[in-house]
Amino acid sequence: MKSQRLRLFFALDCPPKLASAIAGWRDALYLAGRAVAAENLHLTLAFLGNQPPSRVAELQQLAATLQLPGFDLHLDRLQRRRNGLLYLAPSQVPEALLALATALHKGLGEIGVSLDERPFHAHLTLMRRCPRRPQDASPAFDWPVSHFSLFASEQGSQGCRYQRLQQWPLWRSDTALARSQSAP
Ligand code: 2AM
Repeated sequence: MKSQRLRLFFALDCPPKLASAIAGWRDALYLAGRAVAAENLHLTLAFLGNQPPSRVAELQQLAATLQLPGFDLHLDRLQRRRNGLLYLAPSQVPEALLALATALHKGLGEIGVSLDERPFHAHLTLMRRCPRRPQDASPAFDWPVSHFSLFASEQGSQGCRYQRLQQWPLWRSDTALARSQSAP
């Protein structure tokens, strides 16, 4: 029998209030295409593809070893790829976000998970198959990022559903400050 595999990814899951503000703003643009449901809005840190369920414990251990600071993410760019993917992105990618994605990619490599070779690109997908990007939209969303999560993506009859398997905290900035001050 073929063993069941899980489609896994690490991501920042958008807090519900912010997700609903972003989805409301997007919906008011009245764009054609397939909108991502508010509860599915996230920023992918590392996409692992199909993995055996036995991998999950190893991934949980890896994530638990990461001791990194939280950060503020300012989403102020609306962009569209030629394939119709419409997304929000930060014009300034926080160093701490890059550090988190880099640490995950490095740790995944060390446990033998091979990732897509494309470099990390911080983006939050809003729509797929969107035929155009509105020229006059000026997004400005502030996201205080305090944790990251491991998700399994499930394809159901109603579309994709992301199940959060576990969440890990990032240091609060005051904790980060205290740690840096107490360092020798
Ligand atoms: P996207 O939003 O840019 O399509 C779950 O599928 C998440 O993993 C999505 O946010 C998706 O990014 C991202 N992802 C990255 N690489 C992927 C791939 N090769 N196939 C499917 N999803 C991928």
